[in-house]
Amino acid sequence: MQLPLVLLLLSLPGCLSIQGPESVRGLEGGSVTVRCDYKPRWETYRKWWCRGAYWELCRTLVRTTGSQLEVKRDRVSIGDNQSHHFLTVTMEKVRQNDTDTYWCGISKTGRDLGAPIRVTIEPEGTLLTTACYPTNGHAGVSSVSYSR
Ligand SMILES: *[C@@H]1O[C@H](CO)[C@@H](O)[C@H](O)[C@H]1NC(C)=O
Ligand SMILES: *[C@@H]1O[C@H](CO)[C@@H](O)[C@H](O)[C@H]1NC(C)=O
Repeated sequence: MQLPLVLLLLSLPGCLSIQGPESVRGLEGGSVTVRCDYKPRWETYRKWWCRGAYWELCRTLVRTTGSQLEVKRDRVSIGDNQSHHFLTVTMEKVRQNDTDTYWCGISKTGRDLGAPIRVTIEPEGTLLTTACYPTNGHAGVSSVSYSR
């Protein structure tokens, strides 16, 4: 028996409302910038950047105030472009131990919305090849398959 696709989509956190790149890579000592696009209607909600593979347990590093003002804490900053519906996160002076799964998300009543992003920091001297990451794909959706 096949579960209807729409049910799967609805059961995933925020996959229809916010999306970012599946993965990004950076070099130790450099900075990494991630852009997440969200659907209109969420402009004035607070946006956040969270670290940890598990959605429920991830640690929020920075959170906007619901305005476009950039918020910075330690090496991480987050900004929200409300007229173009995207948030931008920059992590500076990255280290290899910053490698992890992160989430960009939107605070709302009930369950927040979020999209997972794999961030990998390579040692200094690694040659990063330029790659195009799909901006319309979504890890949460593409990794789901259901049969029987
Ligand atoms: C929002 O993004 C657009 C397009 O990239 C840019 O022209 C505009 O200046 C940005 N607004 C803010 C407040 O950063
Ligand atoms: C991560 O690595 C840096 C050095 O590259 C070190 O100073 C820091 O303590 C490490 N952090 C953790 C949590 O291991």
